[in-house]
Amino acid sequence: MQEQLNANQQEALAGLEQVQDDDGLQRWKVAYLGRSAPLMQTFDKLGTLPKAERPLIGRRANEVKQALEGAYADKAESLRQAALQRSLQTERLDVTLSGRSMPRGRIHPTTQTLRDLNRTFAEMGFQVYRSREVESDEYNFQLLNFPLNHPAREMQDSYYLDTGRTPGENPIMFRTHTSPGQIRAMREYAAENPENPPPIRIVLPGMCARYEQITSRSEMQFNQLEGLAVGEYITFGDLKGTLSDFARRFFGQAVRTRFRASHFPFTEPSAEMDVECFVCGGTGCAVCKRSGWLEILGCGMVHPVVLQNGGYDPRRYTGYAFGMGPERITMLRHRIDDIRYFWANDLRFLEQF
Ligand code: DAH
Repeated sequence: MQEQLNANQQEALAGLEQVQDDDGLQRWKVAYLGRSAPLMQTFDKLGTLPKAERPLIGRRANEVKQALEGAYADKAESLRQAALQRSLQTERLDVTLSGRSMPRGRIHPTTQTLRDLNRTFAEMGFQVYRSREVESDEYNFQLLNFPLNHPAREMQDSYYLDTGRTPGENPIMFRTHTSPGQIRAMREYAAENPENPPPIRIVLPGMCARYEQITSRSEMQFNQLEGLAVGEYITFGDLKGTLSDFARRFFGQAVRTRFRASHFPFTEPSAEMDVECFVCGGTGCAVCKRSGWLEILGCGMVHPVVLQNGGYDPRRYTGYAFGMGPERITMLRHRIDDIRYFWANDLRFLEQF
């Protein structure tokens, strides 16, 4: 029995010498220290031995076990060290080497402008109101005071969705401007308290589309930013003051503005606002076509019919509205000479912003 143990110990230690890796080490452990290893079975058999032999064999078996466990731990440690050395050799890391740069995404120039516009109006107390892109003829035109055959529709040739309806039956369409959101917002606010609708101060950003010939100045898809303020005692003076303040905040404190009379079916009176050309400072250049002024938005006092359609009694409430094109404003800001760049997906253009 003693000899068996000695032989077992020698064999085990010799075997351990040959072990090269973790797998081998695990197999070795199962073979020499596992449940059915000869050494472990010696412990099981201790009870069957003659009483006199038991202490001797027991002690020897324990010694062998300790020796094997110690050798196992040493081997595990030396394998670990060897693996570490290998990885230090093969996976040299030079922390002084400069990193590989990640291509950085960026925000589309129109979206940058839209966010700047939203932020500027937010500072002035306007909330952002998101309205739908797909509209009905009723909201896009009729409720905004464009009757069915109104000539002003002609400036907004439209995409109608084929829903099996015929024109005149309120066809579904892609909105041609963000103005229908005025009606949606007024109706939503008014529903809160139909007897005393609350005041409104919102901007409405988003996509619009018109069935247009695409040129350097006009696209069939574009963004708009609409604004709407409704309440008691709102005057044209508020409109001028607010929009002039906006222009100074957005284009710089020194910028001058002017208002020209215009026409929109949903405002009365209506105007267009120009800002002093920031390329030439008003002396006249190619960007402002020698006029010294750049047109940036349409505006006016909300037409009584539109207030009524929104659920606001025009005898008590007044309001102003405005609409601008963020792509146009981006063109002015960066002196971009062709609106088609915005949808051309050309990285040489987009990566400049
Ligand atoms: N909806 C007009 C357009 O697309 C822009 C506009 C003009 C909006 C005057 C307004 C406004 O709210 O008051 O051409």
